[in-house]
Order: sequence, then structure tokens, then C-alpha cells
Amino acid sequence: MNGKTDRHDNRSLVIDVGRLLARARAVAVLTGAGISAESGVPTFRGPDGLWRNFRAEELATPEAFARDPALVWEWYRWRRRWMATVVPNPGHLALVSLESRFPAFTLITQNVDGLHVCAGSRHVLEIHGNIWRDRCSRNPAHLFQRQPSDAAGSSEAAPLPRCHCGALLRPDVVWFGEGLNPAHLDAAVEAVSSADILLVVGTSSVVYPAAALPAVARQAGADVVEINPEETPQSPEMDLVLRGPAGVLLPELDRLIRQG
Ligand code: OAD
Repeated sequence: MNGKTDRHDNRSLVIDVGRLLARARAVAVLTGAGISAESGVPTFRGPDGLWRNFRAEELATPEAFARDPALVWEWYRWRRRWMATVVPNPGHLALVSLESRFPAFTLITQNVDGLHVCAGSRHVLEIHGNIWRDRCSRNPAHLFQRQPSDAAGSSEAAPLPRCHCGALLRPDVVWFGEGLNPAHLDAAVEAVSSADILLVVGTSSVVYPAAALPAVARQAGADVVEINPEETPQSPEMDLVLRGPAGVLLPELDRLIRQG
């Protein structure tokens, strides 16, 4: 697809994206915090974003955990308690439905809330980890799955969780200053490189390496479509831009595909 568009008729743009999807065989989707906004999960950088109320460098870094693991766990336990109350929204559900329509479909998410898997998406790469998993701070192969039902009882005063080896557990999420799991990153690059179309949904597109994936897709010949109510630094590079909430636009796209 050549060139960008400055058309503002969202309906015709949705139809254009529907056409691209209709002829695609391989689809990749990159999601960020915006797709969970309509479930009530705050984004990171919006006016009410999480990082406005908490200093990331005090809470989401390996140094912070080494310095004050109780403070870091207090924050994650608090996040788990309210994440335990949220459910997938129509945007997550539309992606589940879309997945069933294509021979190849990969959902790459920066979100740690687990809502894509909870909704029923199958081929999901959680490249920033999952807040519902603990990992041993000494041996990363020791993983422990937690359930939202456990969150209610995890008061701030509870003892810090430990691995059977005795070391402290930490949330299995990627912190600032840490690399992504290389296997996840390779799989994400492979998915966007072989995709006919990449949907970039609900991300401010500023955190790397995830923010590099649209360029990788474009160089490999995919059409790249942004779905976001707000402009992002990458909007000018997109082939098409749909301005609006994912919980409205993704179900519209899914309806178009189902109607054929
Ligand atoms: P951000 O908070 O940076 O961006 C959220 C984006 O979602 C913004 O561009 C919003 O305009 C958009 N948005 C808001 N509501 C929306 C809706 N209803 N539908 C669609 N889009 C909507 O979140 P991310 O880009 O995901 O990393 O942030 C990337 C990473 O930064 C996170 O994964 C996290 C953080 O540091 C780690 O924790 C490692």
C-alpha cells in the first residue's frame, strides 16, 4: 500500500483496513496499554497514567528490587489486587475472533495484565512478561503461576514470597534496564517480518524494542495500521491510521471480516 492518508472519514478508513485484512493470510498485532484502558487498567503515559503517580525508577527496576524488595512487592501486590477485578473488553474479544479467521495470526503484547490470554487469544507473545507469574530472583527457570483469586489475600504486610531454593521471588515482568527474553523477541520479529499486515493497537510506540517492530514489518513489505485515539510519534509513518478506541474499532473490523 502506498503513501499515508490524511482522510478523516473513519468509516471509509475502517473499510480500507477491512479490505487489507480480507486479502491477508498472515496477520500480526502489537498491543499496548491502550487496549486494556476500556477494561479499567490505567495506561502508563496518559493524563492518569501509572508513571505519573509512581516513579518508575523507584519501583520497576532491578536496582529498586535489590534496594527495597518490600516496596516493589507492595506496588505489585497493589496492582494485582485491582487487576484481579478487571475483565477483557470488546477489543480483546474482537482479536480472539479475528485470530480464528487467518491461517497465521500472532498477537504481540506489551501488557502484563494477561487479559489477551484470559479473553481466549491463543498465539500470544507477552514480551514484557505477566504480572500473574512469579520468578525466582536467583534461578529464572523457577516460575510460579499465581491466580487473580490469590490477590485478594496478599496484603502488603504478608511476608515476601520466596522460592523453594530460599531466594526471593519477583514478578516475572521486564523492568527498566532489563532485556526482553530473546526467544520472545525473535518470535515477534519473525511474526512481523512474515505478516501481510500489522495492526499497532493502543501503544504510545516509544518503548523499545517493541516500538521498532512496525519499522521491521514495513521493511518486510507489510501494511502497518495504527489504532489509537491519539497521535503517536509513529503516526506519520503508518500506512493507515484509525483514530478511536480499540474497543469500538476492532469489533467493527471483525464484523467486516465476518461479513466477508
Ligand atoms: P502507554 O501508556 O505509553 O500508551 C498507551 C497508548 O494507548 C496511548 O498512545 C493512548 O493514546 C492509547 N489509548 C488510550 N486509550 C485507548 C483506547 N481505548 N484504545 C486504543 N488506544 C488507547 O502504554 P504502552 O505503549 O503500552 O513497559 O507502554 C509501553 C511500555 O511502557 C509498557 O509495556 C511498560 C511501560 O514502561 C514495561 O513495563 C516494561
